Amino acid sequence: MKALKVLVKSLLILVSIGLIWRWLSRNRSLPCPTWLASLLDSRWSDRLLGTQITLDRIGLRPGQCVLEIGPGPGRLLIPAATRVLPGGEVFGLDIQSGMIERLKARSVQAGVSNLTTIVGDATQPNFPPENFDVIFFCTVLGEIPGRAAALRQCYAALKPGGLLSITEMFPDPHYQSCAPLRQMAEAEGFRLQITHGPWYFFTANFIKA
Ligand SMILES: C[S@@+](CC[C@H](N)C(=O)[O-])C[C@H]1O[C@@H](n2cnc3c(N)ncnc32)[C@H](O)[C@@H]1O
Repeated sequence: MKALKVLVKSLLILVSIGLIWRWLSRNRSLPCPTWLASLLDSRWSDRLLGTQITLDRIGLRPGQCVLEIGPGPGRLLIPAATRVLPGGEVFGLDIQSGMIERLKARSVQAGVSNLTTIVGDATQPNFPPENFDVIFFCTVLGEIPGRAAALRQCYAALKPGGLLSITEMFPDPHYQSCAPLRQMAEAEGFRLQITHGPWYFFTANFIKA
């Protein structure tokens, strides 16, 4: 009985922290701290977080030029680099230098040579226009206070007909549901192509019309 009480209390504390973090992130950048990165690149994370399923839904192909916004330690970007071979390359733009350092170390360890890392903010990324075939986000958009500005930058940086892919997972504290996300992307000129998966783990793919 005592153990159950402790469990319920701990859950309530975790949920409260998540809700406060979500609320504060509406107006300021409070990204997932680097010390939590081990939750994303642990032995279990690929299976628990559906890494290969997410990459299948994005549908990466050899030869593509791909950008991930907010790659963290590279759970998705490192296997994505292999999927675009031969001839393709991948870029990871993250606001935290600590995450980028971790990504660099992991990509060297994995022997990946077609991956470029950039420290920067998705709302001011400074990419040449019409540069990428695919830009993807996974559990990142809700951490960006200027979400619409970030999507506008993606629109400019994608080639005509390019793909914007957004994956969201519940109970990420910054989870975004599909309908408002679709509205926001369409307001920036994207057209919804397909949505994969249930509400608690979905990937919405948009085309630059
Ligand atoms: C929850 S982690 C997700 C990491 C990875 N996408 C995954 O699914 O394993 C969110 C990442 O987004 C990054 N991030 C948050 N705000 C950002 C912004 N404005 N521009 C670029 N990256 C950002 C954080 O630093 C963090 O690495």
